[in-house]
Amino acid sequence: MPRNPSITFTLHLILVHHCAMYDNATRAQALTLKAMNVPSDQITAITGMLERTIRDVWKRAIDRGWNPQQSLKVLDIYVQDAPRSGRPTVQ
Ligand SMILES: *[C@@H]1O[C@H](CO)[C@@H](O)[C@H](O)[C@H]1NC(C)=O
Repeated sequence: MPRNPSITFTLHLILVHHCAMYDNATRAQALTLKAMNVPSDQITAITGMLERTIRDVWKRAIDRGWNPQQSLKVLDIYVQDAPRSGRPTVQ
């Protein structure tokens, strides 16, 4: 393993990004921090989520009806895992 702590940390982040799902609560936290204009590197340091992951979570929350200009309150439905395929959604 590299001895440079920041390289180790970066490798750790990459592993986490690829291997772990984030808690719904952590996603909600990342959304809130981003909506309050906290810089991405700080959000990454706090939540362990990479910027790309944060963007994905952000986009999905907006798609699901989150409107941070109106209210910063995050509901479960904005951050829950995508529904499993196999059960058709009712339109
Ligand atoms: C997020 O919430 C949904 C619905 O309550 C739950 O099924 C899912 O397991 C949760 N995800 C995590 C990573 O805890």
